[in-house]
Amino acid sequence: TRPIRIAPSILSADFARLGAEIEAIDKAGADYIHVDVMDGHFVPNITFGMPVMAAVRSYTAKPFDTHLMIAPADPYIAAFAKAGADSITVHAEAGQHLHRSLQAIKAEGKRAGVAINPATPLSAIEHVLDDIDLLLVMTINPGFGGQTFIPATLDKVRQAHALIGARPIDLEVDGGVTVDNIGEIARAGANVFVAGSSIFAGNDPATYASRIAALRAA
Ligand code: DX5
Ligand code: ZN
Repeated sequence: TRPIRIAPSILSADFARLGAEIEAIDKAGADYIHVDVMDGHFVPNITFGMPVMAAVRSYTAKPFDTHLMIAPADPYIAAFAKAGADSITVHAEAGQHLHRSLQAIKAEGKRAGVAINPATPLSAIEHVLDDIDLLLVMTINPGFGGQTFIPATLDKVRQAHALIGARPIDLEVDGGVTVDNIGEIARAGANVFVAGSSIFAGNDPATYASRIAALRAA
């Protein structure tokens, strides 16, 4: 099994103080900074793009785990790489040529990830298992923070873990992760845990370290 990583999602950060929020979760023990990019087309919400990512890049040395909820994604991969992404995850549902998107990410020298929505079966990504560094199993329908973990996705995490086998692939979950379910999700085989509202709720930096520690302990 691969090392446990906690990836706070800045979707739930205070955008007016985004640099300071990123600095705060870095100091609080975040392993990765999860960056949710939404286009109002692939998902019913809009967040931010490359200029905002570039603007906050200097506030931490931790990896930017970039989750692209945009379609098409390919035209923006190089720009997100340049803006400071360390891994770039595209959705299997976001384009017709997944292998090509992953090659484009690798051509930028970045870790390549693929995400699948709750409605998408694992068979959609079986053909790229030898081309990815990260598999993101969405445990909510993407678009918003603060939603409830969909229980049926737990079995998909289990199946994804089996499918990955001995390959050096991070298995990431995103959506509704809390101290109450993170242990069960870890036992199902996930090792990277995105958490937005369960870390940033209230946006009080004094609470971040204990919340990250509690998730890690659970
Ligand atoms: C939702 C995003 C998530 C979101 C998770 O589409 O991909 O990363 O921030 O938020 P929580 O942890 O609050 O469910
Ligand atoms: Zn995300």
